[in-house]
Amino acid sequence: MVDAGERREALKVVYEQASGCTRCPQLAATRHSVVFGAGNANADLMFVGEAPGKNEDLQGRPFVGAAGKLLGELLEGIGLTRDDVFICNTLKCRPPQNRDPLPQELDNCQDYLFRQLELIEPKVVCTLGNFATKLLRGDPTSITKLRGREEIRTIGPRTIRLYPILHPAAALYTRALLDTLREDFARLPDLLALDAPPQPEPPEETAAIPEPELAAEADADADAAPAESGTADPDEPPPQLGLF
Ligand code: URA
Repeated sequence: MVDAGERREALKVVYEQASGCTRCPQLAATRHSVVFGAGNANADLMFVGEAPGKNEDLQGRPFVGAAGKLLGELLEGIGLTRDDVFICNTLKCRPPQNRDPLPQELDNCQDYLFRQLELIEPKVVCTLGNFATKLLRGDPTSITKLRGREEIRTIGPRTIRLYPILHPAAALYTRALLDTLREDFARLPDLLALDAPPQPEPPEETAAIPEPELAAEADADADAAPAESGTADPDEPPPQLGLF
């Protein structure tokens, strides 16, 4: 898919599906909002963090707290803004008390992330910290071993340049890590200047992205949804989605 309008529309559909998700009963019962992700739907650069925290859960947008402020500063340092990139998380719902995501939760939520990757078609995916890196690499190697080393990976239906770096929150707790983070960020413009890696042939059937399953959930939601008030502009993404 190349057309920007279609891409935005398709992302809104996935957003709506995620918004009614109850695959993780505890998260669905305790969340204030589903933090789908925000930014540029046509971005070449996508960041994947861990999971929403308290502020993100309340505002419905990723990285709006202290770690997000640092992420914004790091972006500014390489001449980018949040509007140039797409930012999301492995989990779209806040784990209570910010506990670590559970393996089952990561598994439940990964369809949404893979759909985001498929639709946004970023050239570079920058994983922030251990959870995103381990999930997207499908391997338990720690971020401390991998940080700053890009590799070409096929994730679901997309082949991308994966670039694992430290989570900005790590640099908030341990200031010495800020230099490492800045150093790793400084390589991003060079990575973005490279050609996108060649894409694999579309598979007969994409096991990692069970679209019919997502579609079935949306149908069920639509059946249960109250009639639209008619006041919302259908062309405008919901504010918390913040798509550009
Ligand atoms: N940390 C994350 O991993 N994601 C957020 O959205 C905020 C903080």
